[in-house]
Amino acid sequence: MKAEKNIVITGFMGSGKTTVGEALSRKLKREFVDMDAEIERRAGMSIPEIFRRQGEAAFRDKERKLAYELALRHGLVIATGGGALVDGELRDMMAQHGALICLQASPADIRARLEESDGRPLAANWERLYHARQTAYAQIPRQVITTGKTPQVIAAEIAALCADALFVKAPDGGGYPIHIKRGILAGLGLDAQAYGLQGPVVLVTNETIAPLYGESLARALPQASLIRVPDGEAHKNLDTVRQVYDDLLSLGADRGTTLIALGGGVIGDMAGFVAASYMRGIPLAQIPTTLLSMVDSSVGGKTGVDLPQGKNLIGAFKQPRRVIIDPDVLNSLPQSEWRCGMAEVIKHGLIGRPSLLDETLWKLERAEELIQQAVQVKIDVVEVDPFETGIRAHLNLGHTFGHAIEKVTGYAVPHGEAVAIGIVKAARLSRNLGLIGDALLGEIQTIFWKIGLPTDIAIDAERCYAAMATDKKWKAGLSRLIVLKGVGEAAIVEGVSREEILAVL
Ligand SMILES: NC(=O)c1ccc[n+]([C@@H]2O[C@H](COP(=O)([O-])OP(=O)(O)OC[C@H]3O[C@@H](n4cnc5c(N)ncnc54)[C@H](O)[C@@H]3O)[C@@H](O)[C@H]2O)c1
Repeated sequence: MKAEKNIVITGFMGSGKTTVGEALSRKLKREFVDMDAEIERRAGMSIPEIFRRQGEAAFRDKERKLAYELALRHGLVIATGGGALVDGELRDMMAQHGALICLQASPADIRARLEESDGRPLAANWERLYHARQTAYAQIPRQVITTGKTPQVIAAEIAALCADALFVKAPDGGGYPIHIKRGILAGLGLDAQAYGLQGPVVLVTNETIAPLYGESLARALPQASLIRVPDGEAHKNLDTVRQVYDDLLSLGADRGTTLIALGGGVIGDMAGFVAASYMRGIPLAQIPTTLLSMVDSSVGGKTGVDLPQGKNLIGAFKQPRRVIIDPDVLNSLPQSEWRCGMAEVIKHGLIGRPSLLDETLWKLERAEELIQQAVQVKIDVVEVDPFETGIRAHLNLGHTFGHAIEKVTGYAVPHGEAVAIGIVKAARLSRNLGLIGDALLGEIQTIFWKIGLPTDIAIDAERCYAAMATDKKWKAGLSRLIVLKGVGEAAIVEGVSREEILAVL
């Protein structure tokens, strides 16, 4: 049997580490170690006494030794002292040996709790200490906000976080889990609290997905309502946004309401934008239902709608509170949509995870693994560059060519097919620039053939070039493209000449 990792709960004094740790140990039937209590037991005196007689340095030394000792054990729930993991080295060590959770309580909650308890040697100057320690706490990727939640709810949230979730660090210092599990939607009603969906929630979905998954989910979740919008990219616009605002108002939705975007990238982008703007922002959860939205659009916080003048021209960055992915919903996804998602999966393989290029993984039966690996590439990129100022552009591999192909053909070529052709064009350009050899170009073509995606199209090269030149990322007419230097290695090149681009078109 695989040894279970320790769960280590840290956070500022008064954030509830001990109470939550006890609740979690009962829930998971694991042994609980409260580090402060253990230090007191071993020293035979209270912490204030250790501070008084031996000084803070001696206490920190005991804390450090105990942390190393506990890290060698497995399956524990550990509550640390508030200052234990401010030390970066100790924090990294604990993170390597366990799942690290930081409880975030509001200053008002902390004040109230400190007034109730005594015997905390550093409590007198707690406000100064609170601000000084925030930078260290922010280094911990899994943050759990405790305000307004019972210890049992917080324990359930931590359990969910540790069970099956990947985690995305958000630019505001917080972050959100991505749960990927077959059948997760069927149990969501029962586990609503653990997933922060205890209500009120409003599911926003389209006419295709409502009868498949939306209606049953709305019945299963407490205090849930359902809003339906028409299906299709043609409806990813401000008219639909307006319709959803109206529906939310008539449902009485306020800032305490969580909006759930249930659908593909079109719903995720449109409903995400509604969540970013309705009443200046309400909580958002993404439940993506296409392969593309699972591996790409539901993660990273880009939301928006189209204008008649162009795609995604209106939008906002809105980080979801969580992303819930049930690979089972892909059973009802049309094959053509699966292939479109696969174009993005291959792109992720080419820019960061070569194992995704292994064809034995491209099966519905292995979707959980496929999605986990593909979404990790997106996480790695958006964590480094949340607002698309640098390497996030790598995710556009093949997309400048692809968008131009979509535009010139009047959107007759589906997005995924255009991306596949675009990636091959980007690879050909990389070969022409001497960055990769013929062999890799050939391999990429073969991958798309195997998936059933096209690799070329007869198209007016001049019109295509003109469409590319309107790309938002080209500055003052200077071309800006993503190329490959090898598998797993993308790069941005600027100023590739018109002739070189026409040659690959
Ligand atoms: N925000 C981002 O970072 C980002 C990234 C990539 C793409 N996008 C956007 O995503 C959109 C494309 O998303 P998409 O490819 O998911 O298309 P989509 O949302 O239009 O879904 C494709 C079709 O599949 C149907 N469908 C969805 N899930 C289904 C299921 N489980 N079973 C049966 N049918 C199902 C939908 O109703 C739709 O008809 C574009 O608007 C694009 O701009 C956004």
